[in-house]
Amino acid sequence: MEYLTIAIPKGRLFEPSRELLVSVGLASEEVSQDTRRMVFELEEKGVRLVVMRAQDVPTYVERGTCDIGIVGKDVLVEQRPQVYELLDLKFGFCRVVLAAPRGREQDPSGHRLTPVRVATKLPRIAGEYFASRGLHPELISLHGSVEVAPQVGLSDMIVDIVATGRTLAENDLVIVDEIMKSTARLVANRVSFRMKSSRIKSMLSVLEKVLEEVDVR
Ligand code: PRP
Repeated sequence: MEYLTIAIPKGRLFEPSRELLVSVGLASEEVSQDTRRMVFELEEKGVRLVVMRAQDVPTYVERGTCDIGIVGKDVLVEQRPQVYELLDLKFGFCRVVLAAPRGREQDPSGHRLTPVRVATKLPRIAGEYFASRGLHPELISLHGSVEVAPQVGLSDMIVDIVATGRTLAENDLVIVDEIMKSTARLVANRVSFRMKSSRIKSMLSVLEKVLEEVDVR
């Protein structure tokens, strides 16, 4: 049987992704993000799982190295890869927000301060958000731990992801505005979607059924 290769993101989306795939028989319990091993094959199912950084999933799927992938909507909006978005997996809910140090989000008259420098790992989303408001702050691209930037004077505000809100609170930052909401999505390579259409479509209908059951509960 020809392998179906699935890109799985490390980090916040890993555990729910793994659970979902295990529940439909497409992953085994041995699949883990806490090992140096990054490729897991389920020979009897004809499935190969590749564990990678969440930001790299679009690249692997767009280039067809992986047929299918799980990735946050925020990453899709930021990177805009040429892939098919097949399904909202409804887990991994988070928001992309503009946040500022507590007490420094407003000027004394109560108006929101206009940031001059904004640190973010989502420069495209941030840039479009500000441009749509006629604002063009300097965007400082980081790869993670964005919340530290205002504390050490690298930026005035940040555009980042909020899930539980804990990281913002622990760094004394407050939400100034919500830019978008995000959940995990199932994406497919465009050629794979045609060439392996029966496998991908049957996987899709099984996943849809599982997600409906979750909805009903
Ligand atoms: C995201 C985000 C925050 C954190 C928010 O980072 O950039 O740092 O999660 O989560 P919380 O609201 O539940 O505290 P992520 O864990 O994806 O890692 P990264 O910073 O290494 O990209």
